[in-house]
Amino acid sequence: MEYLEIEGGNPLCGEVRIQGSKNAALPILSAVILHRGTTILRNCPKIIDVLYMLEILKGFGCLVSWEGEALVIDASSLKDCRVAECYGRQMRSSIMLLGSLLGRMREAFVSYPGGCVIGARPIDIHLEALEKLGAAFLEEPCGLRAVCEKPAGIALRLPFPSVGATENVILLAAAAEGTTVLENAAREPEIGELCRFLNSMGAKIRGTGTNRLVIDGVKEFHDTEFTIMPDRIVAGTYMLMTAAAGGDVLLREVPLEQLGSVRDVLEQMGIKQEAGEGMLRIQSKGHPKSIPKLMTRPYPGFPTDLQSPLLAALSLAKGTSIIEETIFEARFKIVEELCRMGAEIRVEGQTAEIRGVKGLRGAELTARELRGGAALVLAAAAAEGISRIYQYHYIARGYENIIRDLQSLGSVVKST
Ligand code: UD1
Repeated sequence: MEYLEIEGGNPLCGEVRIQGSKNAALPILSAVILHRGTTILRNCPKIIDVLYMLEILKGFGCLVSWEGEALVIDASSLKDCRVAECYGRQMRSSIMLLGSLLGRMREAFVSYPGGCVIGARPIDIHLEALEKLGAAFLEEPCGLRAVCEKPAGIALRLPFPSVGATENVILLAAAAEGTTVLENAAREPEIGELCRFLNSMGAKIRGTGTNRLVIDGVKEFHDTEFTIMPDRIVAGTYMLMTAAAGGDVLLREVPLEQLGSVRDVLEQMGIKQEAGEGMLRIQSKGHPKSIPKLMTRPYPGFPTDLQSPLLAALSLAKGTSIIEETIFEARFKIVEELCRMGAEIRVEGQTAEIRGVKGLRGAELTARELRGGAALVLAAAAAEGISRIYQYHYIARGYENIIRDLQSLGSVVKST
């Protein structure tokens, strides 16, 4: 069985360049099909979720090729509007194809989305919002059929700033007739990146970065070349890993302006940070200070995607920390694994109480989802002895090459 083996307990030392952003790349890949022509993307991370998305696009009729580091997608002629079930079921982001398929083809079929098992993850907000733009849905046993003969702009307000629903509305509204005003939109930086990408191919979207987006639909898009921003969650993972394991690490191509809440937390943990142009140096002696209370929040709050890495890092803190998860209801799945490494964590409902311990010990661990898996890597790097992490494929959904990155920080790590 595949596993990742890490010999932990040594301070991390070296440099890592942060990869392109997963959560920006996926909606951008969905947006590509709005245009009957060619798009060139740079810095697109080569992660499993992106590779699945490319297979889905090929199924629609897109021609996809890598020319060196550039990803070239020709969506001139699409022949199908069905998301291939084998890929659609694997990843939640396939739901994001609803907006762009309806915008381009006026119809779509997606299987009920899969993805990381971190909660119920319903799609009611997506569907209600798309209905307001003119879509109609028919539930079938293995998926959702959608039609939208005449997408039309409208004023609408999301009941909760869902990232995916905001993206779906943007994708359909960009190709709709008239103007859409979207209130209570999510403000995650990846949404700003999607808007910048769409504008670079001729869309008219204003209000980027705010919770009120104004989208004037356009009839045609044009070819574009776009560089995807670096991944703030990957950067945050390595920041927290250094905080826990100790060491002196230089991160390059870091989206510093998007990491305010994470940098505040590291500050509270007593970790030394030195920021330069797109660079961040982290110095830690290990055993950071505890955090009295932290809640995950929509951006610009502390991201739920870094909750598990933070939990793992705080298990080695001096003192007791409290984390409340407010976005996903099933995101404490790694607690059991961390406790087998010697962590002392108690979970009650959506709150975890973490009593810092003097050391973690290597263990046989199983990743059950992407960010939880990355948190186990973090814990293994900080623990004494050897850890094996099974189901490594979950981690590869979002981290381009965590083995290479850890090796460049001096960690002894290999995979089978
Ligand atoms: C995206 C990110 C994910 C991140 C999350 C929150 C991508 C590919 N994934 O996921 O990494 O953790 O944002 O920052 O960008 N909800 C509903 N009904 C809906 C939609 C959402 O109840 O129709 C709930 C979800 O179950 C969840 C919460 O809203 O509890 C947040 O979900 P959402 O913001 O939509 O996250 P995703 O787009 O799935």
